[in-house]
Amino acid sequence: MEIIKVNDYNEMSQKAFSFFKEQLKKNPASVLGLATGSTPLGLYGLLIKELKGRQDLSFKTVNLDEYIGLGKDDEQSYYNFMFKNLFSELSLPSANWHVPEGRGRNNLSRFIKLLQDIGQRDIQLLGIGANGHIGFVEPSHKFPEQEAMIINLTQQTIQDNSRFFEDDMTKVPTQAITMGVPQILNAKKIIILASGENKAEAVKKAIQGPVTPQCPASILQEHSNVTWIIDELAGSKL
Ligand code: F6R
Repeated sequence: MEIIKVNDYNEMSQKAFSFFKEQLKKNPASVLGLATGSTPLGLYGLLIKELKGRQDLSFKTVNLDEYIGLGKDDEQSYYNFMFKNLFSELSLPSANWHVPEGRGRNNLSRFIKLLQDIGQRDIQLLGIGANGHIGFVEPSHKFPEQEAMIINLTQQTIQDNSRFFEDDMTKVPTQAITMGVPQILNAKKIIILASGENKAEAVKKAIQGPVTPQCPASILQEHSNVTWIIDELAGSKL
């Protein structure tokens, strides 16, 4: 495991961007696994700067997760997040980017088929929840073995994410569809970003603690090509 310590959010975003830039230079048709949330916004801004206006984009992306019950027309859906913060600015064909569907029949089996069809991701980008979750694989007593699943969000995640829902916890969906641990680990390379003091405990447990489903990110200790990019506050307990 490689650990890159940086000063702040901007440096974290720059560093992450350098990995993505390098990957796209090596293979413009790369398959990228993407995340939502506050953490990757800086990286997405840099990707827009780099790629805006290019008509030859051929990479493919698939996102980690989506809220159950939300769809393309919901302001807070992860589909919308990706559209607003990245894809509306790029000339990437819409058939090249994918977010699991939060509603509709058989959305779980469709997501699993999508993951099989799109093939192994060259890079999987991750953020980390304050409770150690990756994707929406929440802490539990056992690592889930499914390739993808529909899970109940923990109270902490609902509270943490209520900032996107007018600070009203009752507006946050209670379930999500997410890539499971085997799929996350199936990526050739994993880049996990952490910024801010509220991530410090989770970062410490994930990197220095035992591999335990109580801290899902700790499973990354078992992947052979993981890079953590951690700012000073998130790394303050290491
Ligand atoms: C989002 C995701 C989550 C977030 C995590 C951190 O697609 O999979 O695991 O990465 O909740 O969220 P932020 O970046 O908002 O702190």
